[in-house]
Amino acid sequence: MKKQLAALAASLIWALGAQAADIKLVVNADQPGPVIHRNVYGQFAEHLGTGIYEGMWVGPDSKIPNVRGWRKDVVAALKELKVPLVRWPGGCFADEYHWRDGIGPRNKRPVKINTNWGGVPEDNAVGTHEFFDLVEQLGAEAYVNGNLGTGSAQEMSEWLEYMTGEGKSTLTDLRRKNGRDKPFRVHYFAVGNEAWGCGGNMRPEYYADQYRQVASFLKTPGHNRPIMIASGGNGLQTEWTEALSKGVHSVNAISHHSYTLPTGKWEHKGAAIGFPEGEWISTLANVQHIDEIITKNTAVLDKNDPSKKIGFYFDEWGSWYDPDPGSNPGFLVQRNTLRDALLAALHFNVFHAHADRVQMTNIAQMVNVLQAMIQTTKTSMVLTPTYHAFALYTPFQDATSLPAKIENNPVYKVGNVEMPGISATAARAKDGKLYIGLVNSNANQPAELTLQVGSAAPKAVKGKLLTAGAMDAQNELGKPAQVVPQAFEAQATNGKLTLKLPAKSVVVVAVEG
Ligand code: AHR
Repeated sequence: MKKQLAALAASLIWALGAQAADIKLVVNADQPGPVIHRNVYGQFAEHLGTGIYEGMWVGPDSKIPNVRGWRKDVVAALKELKVPLVRWPGGCFADEYHWRDGIGPRNKRPVKINTNWGGVPEDNAVGTHEFFDLVEQLGAEAYVNGNLGTGSAQEMSEWLEYMTGEGKSTLTDLRRKNGRDKPFRVHYFAVGNEAWGCGGNMRPEYYADQYRQVASFLKTPGHNRPIMIASGGNGLQTEWTEALSKGVHSVNAISHHSYTLPTGKWEHKGAAIGFPEGEWISTLANVQHIDEIITKNTAVLDKNDPSKKIGFYFDEWGSWYDPDPGSNPGFLVQRNTLRDALLAALHFNVFHAHADRVQMTNIAQMVNVLQAMIQTTKTSMVLTPTYHAFALYTPFQDATSLPAKIENNPVYKVGNVEMPGISATAARAKDGKLYIGLVNSNANQPAELTLQVGSAAPKAVKGKLLTAGAMDAQNELGKPAQVVPQAFEAQATNGKLTLKLPAKSVVVVAVEG
């Protein structure tokens, strides 16, 4: 009896809470858009805190199970995400990184101070060979970020020769002596990072000239030519895209960065847990700025590069909160909650909508740092809510985007911040199935929406749901995980397919029939 009453109460709450207007998602499966490049799901790993050392690299002599120094547990979990590429060694770290410090016997490598991140010793145990071993273990592509800060054209050109050279030279012989006969495959190479900030505080025009000059000397064999990336702007800036897309012919892609801070203020960003609903919505609503950033920058590109040769790479994004109390503030350690899972999914939906130009994005960062996939201690690891959002969205890698329109989308409002209640994306995946990704950002209200593909209702949908009781639900080491994917399905009745999205949820489904 008690159980029946509880069920009745739950359905009443559902009925009262559900949106009044008939929300409808209409997908046009016969109007294929651009392919969502798998690199939209790229990752970023910097020499920062325990992001690489401890989080992924423990060294070959460690008791922690590893393959040539890389943690088995972490690599196996990342492989599940089908990580398409890894950007390394930074970030700001790249702006001061000298590649020769990271080759040869590890016990002879110089120890430097990581001046950007906590002032801790950097023993260069992970260098070029170790990085390529990691990407090869992951089956991912390599994105190497060159040093234009304290480096030079000569240093970058020699690094490229060391990595990609085929014939006999002092540098290729050195690579062979260090254990690698075959050249490394460098898929992407960036000239500097955040040239507007930690990469040298330059003006866009000055950097554009620097790029033009340096890129002239970055030579590789033709079949191992990386996509050359210029360091672009931040946030709503468009002047970097303007300067780099006008007459700088060697630019294949422009990198752009934008982080999400709940308060929008660097001096007090907002807490990662225990935050009010006002900071839930301000964080999620920021994704509207991401859309605006891309729209404004791609308009500049469309003007200067109408044949769409230049990619717009959003190669650092994600949440940035106040550091975990008690942690080294230079290590950028923060908790990861359900809010981060929704934030990631909302980003994906925006990136998919701009798939023609946004052919790569890299979340910051892969392990232990900022909005990480995985958090570790020395011996164990936990998969974060963000990891699960990435896992749910893997079918969208290399899928063909499809127009998806929400009718009667409810507005979600807290105080003076508002955003669309539901966000959606649709695509035809490589397995031939039609996938839908949905986010209900409302922290309190569930939503019901009907699904229409063309003019018909599909028979059923089947997939996964990510939600939890609290906005800041998290998966903590040593405690039962609170945010884990659950099965989700719905069947059509009377020619109508209704999806019931719980409050604060992410749903990815395949459409059947
Ligand atoms: O991801 C952390 C830092 O944020 C990166 O090193 C830098 O490029 C950006 O400012």
